Amino acid sequence: MDEPVIVDDAPDAETLPDITGEADFEDVTFAYEEGTNVLEHMNLHVKAGESIALVGPTGAGKSTVINLLCRFYNLNGGRILLHDKAGMTHDINKVTLHSLRSQLGIMLQDSFIFSGTLMDNIRYGRLDATDSEVKEAARRVQADELIRRLPMGYQTEIKERGNNLSQGEKQLIAFARTLLSDPAILILDEATSSIDTQTEKRLQEGIREMLKGRTSIIVAHRLSTIKNCDRILYISNKGIAEAGSHEELMARRGLYYQLYTAQVREEAA
Ligand SMILES: Nc1ncnc2c1ncn2[C@@H]1O[C@H](COP(=O)(O)OP(=O)(O)O)[C@@H](O)[C@H]1O
Ligand SMILES: [Mg+2]
Repeated sequence: MDEPVIVDDAPDAETLPDITGEADFEDVTFAYEEGTNVLEHMNLHVKAGESIALVGPTGAGKSTVINLLCRFYNLNGGRILLHDKAGMTHDINKVTLHSLRSQLGIMLQDSFIFSGTLMDNIRYGRLDATDSEVKEAARRVQADELIRRLPMGYQTEIKERGNNLSQGEKQLIAFARTLLSDPAILILDEATSSIDTQTEKRLQEGIREMLKGRTSIIVAHRLSTIKNCDRILYISNKGIAEAGSHEELMARRGLYYQLYTAQVREEAA
């Protein structure tokens, strides 16, 4: 993460127990710079297992919502609560950053690939995973096809920063790694934005596999990637301007409808 560390554990921070994925944003207000609120009085209830997509114009605050959930920044107002498996709720400000972030699977536009074998790179998601668990994760996101094509398979040595892999291949390896880590909440922020449309289509199966039964929050420029999410939130004007399923928002003929139809027109052109 390149984000500056400007938050720290509270002196009496507790370990966040295993969470269910259920989350509440309560009256959340946030500004990076004093006087310029990016989000104002935002409320959101995320159900366990629900997939949520954030869409809207650049600079609207989609990544900010994610940054706040990961507690890369502290709120200016309101709170964010996570529900644990014993039915208790925890304010993210009051738990250790490690116990919070280790339960979140965060994938951004560029994934970190290090020198070492492909096996090691995927196993980084869960260090005690067996070889067969690593392979199973790769198979589920459909990365095994790519890996088997390589002469050394899982033992292929990855060069510095993954220079012998394409952007799409790197993300596929990162999908396998994330799936292996089995996060309570999966977060994808433009994880497929640096990939061409064809490759993104191929990655969609892997994304679907990661989402299965898992709470997830996804930002994707191409709306075909998020169309099937349980709920789509259109972020603008410092909060949630529209919310609903793809079908509901299309029927409403509002902001999401405009965004979607503009993108379909663009792709056809
Ligand atoms: N680290 C930062 N410092 C100051 N302003 C920021 C920072 N990150 C984002 N912003 C501003 O906050 C607003 C929301 O940004 P962001 O959440 O990244 O939007 P989105 O992901 O929807 O494109 C924008 O106006 C952006 O310029
Ligand atoms: Mg963003």
